[in-house]
Amino acid sequence: MSISTADYKKRRNQLMSMMSPGSVALIPGASPARRNRDIQYLFRQDSDFFYLTGFSEPDALLLLAPGREHGQEILFCAERDVQAERWDGERLGPERATQNLGVDDAFPVTDMDDILPGLLESRARIYVTLGEYPDFDSRLLAWVADIRKREAGGAQTPGEFLELKHLLHELRLFKSAKEQQLMRKAAKITSIAHRRAMQVCEPGMLESQLEAELTYEFMSHGARSPAYPCIVGGGENACVMHYVDNTAVLKKNDLVLIDAGCEYQHYAADVTRTFPVSGKFSGAQQKLYDIVLRANEAAISQCLPGNYFNAPHEAAVRVIVEGLVALGLLEGAIDEIIAVQDYKAFCPHKTSHWLGIDVHDVGDYRIDTSWRDFEPGMVLTIEPGIYIPRDETTAHLPDRYRGIGIRIEDDVLITRQGCEVLTDDVPKQPAEIEALMAEPFIQASRVQPRRRSAR
Ligand code: GLY
Ligand code: MN
Ligand code: MN
Repeated sequence: MSISTADYKKRRNQLMSMMSPGSVALIPGASPARRNRDIQYLFRQDSDFFYLTGFSEPDALLLLAPGREHGQEILFCAERDVQAERWDGERLGPERATQNLGVDDAFPVTDMDDILPGLLESRARIYVTLGEYPDFDSRLLAWVADIRKREAGGAQTPGEFLELKHLLHELRLFKSAKEQQLMRKAAKITSIAHRRAMQVCEPGMLESQLEAELTYEFMSHGARSPAYPCIVGGGENACVMHYVDNTAVLKKNDLVLIDAGCEYQHYAADVTRTFPVSGKFSGAQQKLYDIVLRANEAAISQCLPGNYFNAPHEAAVRVIVEGLVALGLLEGAIDEIIAVQDYKAFCPHKTSHWLGIDVHDVGDYRIDTSWRDFEPGMVLTIEPGIYIPRDETTAHLPDRYRGIGIRIEDDVLITRQGCEVLTDDVPKQPAEIEALMAEPFIQASRVQPRRRSAR
């Protein structure tokens, strides 16, 4: 199911076919990020670079020069080094890169400053994503300056810098059949993890204990890490959109909101479920929950090819506003509340974003000024929420509704017929959640460690 060398080559060819004649594209890989002293964060390759190469070593560079006689696809990567590899693991090295990655040529990164000016010279345009890696931008300007110094001798300095993302991110927006398979797998693993969290949850646990249960399933199924820091917010913590402390004790009468998804072979899942710590919703909790659930379902019903990107959000907002008015939490005419966005006090975020190699994936949401239409192969989240913090902004509201945050988030693939909800395996109907939480927890999804083969 994994993406092959030929697939990566096809992507590079697709990108080059979109580039204008006489141009070159530069796609730098990521560099390691320091956590403290000599410890690095777990390395994660740049998503654009990975999409085009499948190569996950740090500090590399891909150059695409369509039509170049002596090779169109050039990679710069670290050289083999026995001593360094003993510490940090095996390197591919330029010698093997042409064979293993299917590029036309490969050079050591240490030669980049010597070679790049020659490769850029006489190319009229450079496609690049400026502002992503400031150190790389400075280097690029130094290469351009190097060419400019030699203009009197006939060197031609590239005249235009163009935004690479307009081409590359348009390709990334449409997921191939193999990408869809990987995203189904990421969603499946994530679903197993959310079901486990529901089943093991008990009053008195730490939020971080639920995070541990989620991460256990992610990594047991081969995901190397979550796609973003897990949010496990009990009670009022659920009202903090990016809550990641995860240190509080879960209380019997509270809900807990879990927003967590794994990254599987570089593809993200992004799922939120909110459920009662005790296994039983209170009346007020269920009233609010039902509004969010209906908003989630109304939004998913708008995920159809040909419909416009903001249609799910508009459907969700209408359901939320109607629900909050019915409960007396908002006052006024529905259309007026929507027009002046009064609902944002309880629902400050949008309902959807693209999903893919990045959790907030790339791709334009509008074409010129209009929302773009859904097309088969696009993947987005549907994640309406209601948040009623217990602060001075809500002091006038009935106490039973305060200190509650609810979000229900699914991942949706647009298909030719309509859509496929990739995260359907995690219950979201209150009765289903309560039934699952009432079942004794059996480690059904335990992954058997592989036995070592006998020597
Ligand atoms: N987990 C981030 C988001 O839902 O957008
Ligand atoms: Mn999320
Ligand atoms: Mn999301």
